[in-house]
Amino acid sequence: MKRLLLIAAAALTMVAHAQNFPGTKPVTFVVPFAAGGPTDKVARDLAVAMAKTMPGGNFVVENVAGAGGTIGAAKVARANPDGHTLLLFHIGMAATPALYRKLSYKPLEDFEFLGMVNDVPMTLVGKPQLPANTYRDFENYIRANAGKLNIAHAGLGSASHICGMLWQAQLQSKEAMTTIPFGGTAPAMNALVGGQVDVMCDQTTNTTAQIESGRIKAFAVTTAKPLSDHKSLKYYPSLQEMGLKNFDLTIWHGLYAPKGTPAAITTALNEAMKKALKDPEFIKKQEGLGALVVTDKRVEPAEHKKFVAAEIQKIKAAVDASGKYAD
Ligand code: MLT
Repeated sequence: MKRLLLIAAAALTMVAHAQNFPGTKPVTFVVPFAAGGPTDKVARDLAVAMAKTMPGGNFVVENVAGAGGTIGAAKVARANPDGHTLLLFHIGMAATPALYRKLSYKPLEDFEFLGMVNDVPMTLVGKPQLPANTYRDFENYIRANAGKLNIAHAGLGSASHICGMLWQAQLQSKEAMTTIPFGGTAPAMNALVGGQVDVMCDQTTNTTAQIESGRIKAFAVTTAKPLSDHKSLKYYPSLQEMGLKNFDLTIWHGLYAPKGTPAAITTALNEAMKKALKDPEFIKKQEGLGALVVTDKRVEPAEHKKFVAAEIQKIKAAVDASGKYAD
């Protein structure tokens, strides 16, 4: 009898907590890359939009960079499952289990899936001093300087790393470029603008403003078709148009909580996220940066998890075929 009373009391406590969620304690979005980068930008915009749907909610962003996003993801996997520590992560959620064979967490078992947020195209960009203005010039310059140039990314398993790897695999250049890892593509972008690195493949959420200002050069986009609806990115060809076979890469982002977060809380967070994705201000910001807010069934947790499980299989097959791992 006493055990039943204890279970009932615990259940009532959880329901009460869920009803008062988020309360005054901040909800932290852990971003597993440096501040100012594309993942950080999505998280900060989403936090503002979700806070509007949960009056009194205090949403903050914490940057926990390193190892292609796996350090931040591991922190959330181990966090208290009370709904106050969330993870905003992108395709790396599916790429890192393929690249890191000793990963300290299991993506499909250690997280509650809260829904997907957006799909972000990438751009192939170069430092302002690069003597090329079209993709063809750029590709010829890379080939003519085989082994002498470098490419920046945000760590093994990051979107910028995956894109650079896929692009170079089709370049048929005699020698690979030297890769320069950073804690995120915000610091990498500073190095590119400053001319300390030569090339990068990064998400439009981080490159659009720099391209529009002329601080970096753009050569192509990674989506199958050009971004013909975007005011400034429409001028660049797709890599597929430039002859790279089946090159079609967009970076999806999802929201996660630690496994064991009460269903009442994960439901509240998913509902708040879905409302945020319909917020005109959030949509305008995302579209201005070339990002496409998710409007399909991937906003639902079960579909989100199914999508990620399929991506893990797809990327694992490609990584195993390459035989190149991060550890
Ligand atoms: C990536 O390359 O994975 C991201 O652009 C990193 C970041 O958000 O800084």
